[in-house]
Amino acid sequence: MIRQLLRTKPIVSDSDDSINTLNRCLSKWDLTFLGIGAIIGTGIFVLTGIAAATQSGPAVILSFVIAGFACVFAALSYAELAASVGGCGSAYGYSYAAFGELVAWIIGWDLLLEYAISVAAVANGWAGYFNNALTAIGFALPDALTKAPKLGGIVNLPASMIILFLMGLLILGVKQSAKLNNIMVAVKLVTIAMFIGLAVFNIHPENWYPFMPFGWFQTLPDGKTIGVFAGASIVFFAYVGFDAVSTAAEEAHNPQEDLPFGIVTSLIFCTAIYILVSGLLTGVVHYSDLNVSSPVAHALKLLGFSWASALVATGVIAGLTTVMLVLYYGLTRVIFAMARDGLLPEFFNVVHEKTQTPVRVIVICGVIMAVIAGFIPLGDLAELVNIGTLAAFVLVCFGVIMLRFTQPNLPRPFRSPYSPLFPALGMISCGTLMAFLPAQTWWRFLIWLVLGIVMYFVYSKQHSKLEQAVKQ
Ligand code: ALA
Repeated sequence: MIRQLLRTKPIVSDSDDSINTLNRCLSKWDLTFLGIGAIIGTGIFVLTGIAAATQSGPAVILSFVIAGFACVFAALSYAELAASVGGCGSAYGYSYAAFGELVAWIIGWDLLLEYAISVAAVANGWAGYFNNALTAIGFALPDALTKAPKLGGIVNLPASMIILFLMGLLILGVKQSAKLNNIMVAVKLVTIAMFIGLAVFNIHPENWYPFMPFGWFQTLPDGKTIGVFAGASIVFFAYVGFDAVSTAAEEAHNPQEDLPFGIVTSLIFCTAIYILVSGLLTGVVHYSDLNVSSPVAHALKLLGFSWASALVATGVIAGLTTVMLVLYYGLTRVIFAMARDGLLPEFFNVVHEKTQTPVRVIVICGVIMAVIAGFIPLGDLAELVNIGTLAAFVLVCFGVIMLRFTQPNLPRPFRSPYSPLFPALGMISCGTLMAFLPAQTWWRFLIWLVLGIVMYFVYSKQHSKLEQAVKQ
């Protein structure tokens, strides 16, 4: 029984053609922009301020460095497996090859949670900015249409609508989506460049003292952990998304070279931006003033640049749109891969003839996420995204080590350097960040995993193509 569950899936080349193939139309720069599109969003525009004010103080810059290190190790592992194992299932597909079906299912189930909750949570943040912009130009929507029932409204209409808009875009085709993504990434980068350009001339070094007011870590009487490490486990959210690039394996021109390039370049670029922005933000405004929903805009306003603050809002709206777009894209590709293996219903394993996109998956995911985003306020659930993503990172790093032993001759166009040291450091650093997340988050995560395991034994195991192939 155990041996059966641990049976791994043979690795097939990404260039294999079958009827249900996606369209290979993405260049290495499209992939890099997809990465930047998914990475820069709520994390830098919102969480930096909260983490500085409540967890790390000016040492939030160190929280970004720590989370960034963990991600670089994980990204190198992703790059190796994306180039050697391939497939649009990302961590799900790699686990299938390295650890067998049960672990693959669990990680696929975990990715569904990561991507779906991220999109719905970011849609809520996006709606907040969008409503502010409408109010500023005199078209304020009534509360009933901008708040979930729990917050006194009927539905958060803008949050649902943006998801439905992205649904339409993803149906149209991945090249069209990538084009819009590239434009919006440019808008958010201009916004960030403007912040850097203005902030750099307004630093008050005294704001950086005390540098580490909450220490490395400490536990408060109510059990909450604060300090630079706890800050790192929160700002980790800012890095979520580079992994979504690997779900484009079947739509990249030359996945074996372009995916490692896209994953590593986008992550290194964003890490540099985060370190710069968080350092400047705490240098221009005292950290204790940053516990607001839009710290970057707030800092510019305090400096007297009200016009720039409005531009930042535009950048944030564009920035959050790309985050949702890429994570939504990743979600649909993981489901597509799981359905192709028979672990989810065959119904999802169909690509539309004309658009060459998995339209059924896109529509069903879009409608479900639009309902969630419209009716549930998603603050707390965002932490679930971090724990789910970190768990996937730990397994991907472990997968690199495992495959080097079990399949030493597998062609590896890209190799994570210093293996097994770097992947092991990825496992340790991501595992440590998980340990700093609150107990409640762990419970929610475990409940989701138990649901997944039940689902596996009730449905997926019987329908698995690998299982059926072995029986024949
Ligand atoms: N990294 C993405 C963000 O910060 C999820 O919004």
